[in-house]
Amino acid sequence: MKITSAEFVMSNSDVAKCPKGKLPEYAFIGRSNVGKSSLINMLMQRKNLAKTSGRPGKTQLINHFLINKAWHLVDLPGYGYARVSKSSKKVFQKFITQYFQKRQQLVLAFVLVDCRHEPQKVDLEFLQWMGENQIPFSIIFTKADKLKPGAIKRNIEAYEQKLLETWEETPQHFITSASDYTGREELLGYIGSLNDEMNAL
Ligand code: GTP
Ligand code: MG
Repeated sequence: MKITSAEFVMSNSDVAKCPKGKLPEYAFIGRSNVGKSSLINMLMQRKNLAKTSGRPGKTQLINHFLINKAWHLVDLPGYGYARVSKSSKKVFQKFITQYFQKRQQLVLAFVLVDCRHEPQKVDLEFLQWMGENQIPFSIIFTKADKLKPGAIKRNIEAYEQKLLETWEETPQHFITSASDYTGREELLGYIGSLNDEMNAL
């Protein structure tokens, strides 16, 4: 898919105030600092479309971006950030939970995990919750520039083995790097094919 336009639409913390209409939507979710906002910028080839930071907890709201005037990308806050206070964690969890449970336009969520790490409890619990709520997702292994291909392969295999302890099959996955553009074509191609399927309905 060729990107012809990418524009920021709005930020908010209430799913009811998200853009109306029927455009297909894809959300990026995952631990704080995993690289959600960076990946959006990489896909759109724009440096500062989504705000990024070396410090976790940068993205605090539901951010909608309109792509090619035809679909939405959504940048969400990260979960599992220890230094956020308990009360703000609760508020955050509530609006993210509601976003996933109520957002009719959501076609698929991309759950990002850092390819360097072993499966983390907070991610596995989140995936479980997505499954229980029947929200379709794919996994994106981020920061592939930080490891050699062999190590990435080993880590992904270990990840899938872990998932197979509770899931019958493993979800579709992608390997990306916001630094060297790894995975860009595959990811945009996949979104394009899902958009085609949605339009054919
Ligand atoms: P929150 O908004 O806090 O939840 O974080 P986020 O998931 O949006 O992460 P963000 O994109 O802000 O990136 C966090 C840090 O990781 C930044 O310092 C990025 O430069 C770095 N980073 C993101 N993606 C990559 C990548 O593919 N490779 C490398 N080497 N660094 C990355
Ligand atoms: Mg972010």
